Amino acid sequence: MELPSPLFGQDVSVLQILAGVLLLWIIGVSTNRVYFSPLSKVPGPKLAALTSWYEFYYDVRSTSMIQSTMRRSILTTSIWTNSNTLAIVGENRVQFKAVTAPHALHKIRRKALNPFFSKSQISALWPYIVEKSERLCSVVEESYCDDAKPLYLTRAIGCFALDVVTEYSFGKTFNHLDKPGFESELITVLDYLTGKVHLMTHLPIIRKVMSALPKFMQEALQPGLVVAYDWNAGIAEQVRLVAGSHGEKGSYTGHRTIFSDILESDLPDAEKEIQRLSEEASIIASAGSDTIKNAMNVACFHILNNPTIHEALVAELVAVLPDRDTTPVLSQLEALPYLTAIIQESLRLSYGVVQRSPRVSPSQVIQYKGFAIPPGYAVGMDPVHMHHNEGVFPDSYAFQPGRWLGDAAATRRLQRYNVAFSRGTRQCLGMNLAWAEMYLLLATVFRRFEMRLWETDGRCAELETDFFLPRMSDREGVKVMIKKREK
Ligand code: HEM
Repeated sequence: MELPSPLFGQDVSVLQILAGVLLLWIIGVSTNRVYFSPLSKVPGPKLAALTSWYEFYYDVRSTSMIQSTMRRSILTTSIWTNSNTLAIVGENRVQFKAVTAPHALHKIRRKALNPFFSKSQISALWPYIVEKSERLCSVVEESYCDDAKPLYLTRAIGCFALDVVTEYSFGKTFNHLDKPGFESELITVLDYLTGKVHLMTHLPIIRKVMSALPKFMQEALQPGLVVAYDWNAGIAEQVRLVAGSHGEKGSYTGHRTIFSDILESDLPDAEKEIQRLSEEASIIASAGSDTIKNAMNVACFHILNNPTIHEALVAELVAVLPDRDTTPVLSQLEALPYLTAIIQESLRLSYGVVQRSPRVSPSQVIQYKGFAIPPGYAVGMDPVHMHHNEGVFPDSYAFQPGRWLGDAAATRRLQRYNVAFSRGTRQCLGMNLAWAEMYLLLATVFRRFEMRLWETDGRCAELETDFFLPRMSDREGVKVMIKKREK
């Protein structure tokens, strides 16, 4: 359609006018973002300030992002900007409110779950954790000790961690420790889905469309997904059974579960719906298994790769557990300095979550290196840069438990910079459970068995990719030849 009156002596169409308006809008928004936004003075690439597609490109395109971005000059500037978030590369101890779920909602949900993961609750459920480590040891003894075949140790630890978190939290074990060769289809699918995390975060519509499709189409588009859906259905069924057990704590499962606690809490009814609880369960199961597997993979590799560390650990364990097959008590293990130092160092070099975790200061202006960051802007930090800060952790790529064995003040200072569990109101909910599992696993496995690495090198403990969770260069992890200690 032509407009009747000419513009600058030319006839223009509605389409041309719209294109002109769009162009002006783009120029206006871009100029504002790059030159006038409150973040415009912060150093960093202008393209990142211009559009969040910049972030999308680096998150989604990369298969070895961590190593490459660590070297990229854009990230060696202290602050990286895009239109409304900052990623700070360097040390920082400011705590922010996360942007992922509304603060108030997160607070009430977290309040309901906190007691379930308290130290006293871990002590109460310690026998269930021990049961899983005993199962792990007996499968290893039966199938690997006399057979001269390699044990895929990292895989076995993944099964242990998943069985612990599901039994502990939901009162249901899926018996991954009994899978032949510790090969769990579910872990493989979860691992595959982890690889899609950036795409799903940047384009959440994909997840919505996928979950609205019929099951056969989902399976056709994403083979293996049916395993994850079936598992979710199993969890939903478990929630129903717990909900149907008339409120008696542990009456259905034999012990307390997060479901019984949530159902009996004063959370609003909407928070107690089966769908919501099943979603919470999926988050807890994946948060509580992959992270343990990663940390213990790093620990096992470095212990076995370094005879001095290996011998020192075994000596400490033998002193406190003279009988090889004794079941340790948690407080006994917590008092072991060398074992504790190994776990600290493994957490540092497995990072927890490697992606920058966005936080928003709700009302205060944050001062960072002379820049004022206004309230409402997300600020992201990632543990990788913090854990490789040479000023805090000299020779930061080396696995040195000794750095955690200085005097109490020095160790406390270091602990402040070990952010594998994150910090603040969103820090890891399962931290106490995680420590208990790691103490038990390392103490039991290294006290009972002699191991040597089999076709495994440093690549299994070398960070390669940021898929929110860390992915190492060699994803098979630690493999060992194993036999029972003589005494
Ligand atoms: C070595 C083991 C573990 C590490 C390094 C770890 C690390 C983390 C980190 C860094 C976060 C914060 C993520 C963010 O800022 O967005 C987190 C959150 C969380 N973790 Fe862990 N985690 C571990 C084990 C566990 C275990 C065993 C559980 C068991 C239930 C668990 C449950 C959770 C949950 C539910 C959250 C979300 C908390 C919230 O949003 O309030 N984690 N974890």
